[in-house]
Amino acid sequence: MTIVIRIATAADAEDASALIHMSFLELAAKDWEPQAVQIFLDESSPASMRERLKAATYAAGAYLQERLVGFILMPTPTLLGMLFVHPQSLRRGIGRALWEAARAHIGSNFPQAITVELNSTPYAVVFYQSLGFFPISSAFQRSGTRATRMACWLPARSLGAE
Ligand SMILES: CC(C)(COP(=O)(O)OP(=O)(O)OC[C@H]1O[C@@H](n2cnc3c(N)ncnc32)[C@H](O)[C@@H]1OP(=O)(O)O)[C@@H](O)C(=O)NCCC(=O)NCCS
Repeated sequence: MTIVIRIATAADAEDASALIHMSFLELAAKDWEPQAVQIFLDESSPASMRERLKAATYAAGAYLQERLVGFILMPTPTLLGMLFVHPQSLRRGIGRALWEAARAHIGSNFPQAITVELNSTPYAVVFYQSLGFFPISSAFQRSGTRATRMACWLPARSLGAE
């Protein structure tokens, strides 16, 4: 089945919020303290997502037969803020396709952006490594969250060093 990637706007806030909550709660939340989980759910509510989408450098959804199954958001050209895939649609290349779409957008529109960083959940570290991100910190805990800071140096690909 074909995955279609479309730019996301504030009109997609409700669907994006529902997908993020489902993916986060099922796959990633168990590594976080309950109060940190609640803060994240609040910060990705439909109202919060509307504001994030209005301000985003890049945001897109992945659709399978018109159903939202993946979502990516970059608040700035050098920060990947959110990447979530529906728990029933894992390991079909959706996460990778969303990152490649974002990367192409950054490459075309923000050539001054050389390195993209993110905070990876423990669950997603191996996934991000497969995309060319490397840890730039050890795993850390902050306000009940657990993460590893990672970075992708974009020129590595053309140098055969990804
Ligand atoms: C992490 C996540 C986005 C990956 O999405 P996905 O669509 O399943 O990933 P892809 O199918 O594009 O995977 C690409 C490659 O990453 C690696 N990978 C992906 N998920 C993996 C896993 N759970 N374990 C090990 N490797 C994994 C594999 O090398 C995979 O290629 P392969 O399937 O050919 O072996 C998804 O699991 C998710 O939404 N997780 C919960 C939310 C989360 O933690 N997001 C990150 C927030 S920082």
